[in-house]
Amino acid sequence: MTKYRALFVEEAEDKNYTQALVERSIDDLPKGEILIRVEYSSLNFKDALSAHGNKGVTRQFPHQPGIDAAGAVEQSDVDAFAPGDSVIVTGYDLGMNTAGGLGQYIRVPASWVIPCPTEMNAKQAMHFGTAGLTAQLCINKLEKMGLTPSQGKVLVTGASGGVGSIAVALLAHAGYEVVASTGKLEQTDYLQSIGAKSVIDRANLQEESKRPLGQADYAAAIDVAGGVTLANVLKSVKHSGSVAACGLVENPNYPGSVFPHILRNVNLLGVDSVEIPLEEKRTAWEQLAMVASLPALAALNQEIKLDDVVSALTSIVEGNATRHFLVDML
Ligand SMILES: NC(=O)c1ccc[n+]([C@@H]2O[C@H](COP(=O)([O-])OP(=O)(O)OC[C@H]3O[C@@H](n4cnc5c(N)ncnc54)[C@H](OP(=O)(O)O)[C@@H]3O)[C@@H](O)[C@H]2O)c1
Repeated sequence: MTKYRALFVEEAEDKNYTQALVERSIDDLPKGEILIRVEYSSLNFKDALSAHGNKGVTRQFPHQPGIDAAGAVEQSDVDAFAPGDSVIVTGYDLGMNTAGGLGQYIRVPASWVIPCPTEMNAKQAMHFGTAGLTAQLCINKLEKMGLTPSQGKVLVTGASGGVGSIAVALLAHAGYEVVASTGKLEQTDYLQSIGAKSVIDRANLQEESKRPLGQADYAAAIDVAGGVTLANVLKSVKHSGSVAACGLVENPNYPGSVFPHILRNVNLLGVDSVEIPLEEKRTAWEQLAMVASLPALAALNQEIKLDDVVSALTSIVEGNATRHFLVDML
């Protein structure tokens, strides 16, 4: 019986949640077609919510979180995968109510599994994780609406976070002029080092205003915040520009009006990285593999061990993290 180490979250009677590193058995894993030995994982806002008992993410405890995993197939019940294959799993139910990538083993349906592109290894894949996949999907959606670097500045909110920092790096590499919005102005040099042309204080975007439109500064934006920030971002995009909205760190609701849409032709584009078809994820992973050696990716990741995950997840939930966390699971 193979034993492995995992982050395990338990619910106490007083509804407090405890996070501990425990030894589990692969017999504890759910049924599934592919058993994967996880080599690397990465941390996301959703992992922090799951680990702190958010029932919107994880209904049942005890639970092994982790929405990201990259590693090698150990056993396969399907012809498409063989032991030793390098694979990536992100999203669907992984780490929500299915034991996730913050354990050294996962067992999942074959329909969740993507072959790791040959241009990148498991570690490079988790330099991106769901955060990088989401950033790439946001850029793809903006470009599908016609965005090109010549149209002007692109604003990224939550720029020091996982999605935000990778979006900054990918956009800059693609030739865009990136404006990074952050609550951590002391991280200005860092944000510029990964590709931001300029850095603004996120407080500027959090002031509620009754004005229907603001100054049209940006060709497009990627927003992880929602709330007043999203309403203000929509007001500051140029005619026919687009905003890719993927997050809710500030507020899932936003006090918006139709004016940016009907007076400036601004598009609000929704981005989901979790439930989209596997083929769409695969295409985005192939795009990410082409830039896997970008120096900014190593700079924006902080490599940690499983033993460090509990404190790292606390820093995420408190909004204090300044790097994307890559977790060495070996
Ligand atoms: N749609 C999808 O498929 C998908 C996929 C991945 C993530 N997401 C969502 O995207 C969001 C970001 O995820 P993440 O993993 O990048 O999180 P993260 O690493 O924790 O980064 C979030 C960043 O947002 C900023 N922030 C924190 N609290 C804030 C507040 N109250 N108001 C405004 N900004 C705040 C901070 O950056 P600064 O200090 O630099 O401002 C923080 O670093 C989350 O809501 C997550 O659920 C969605």
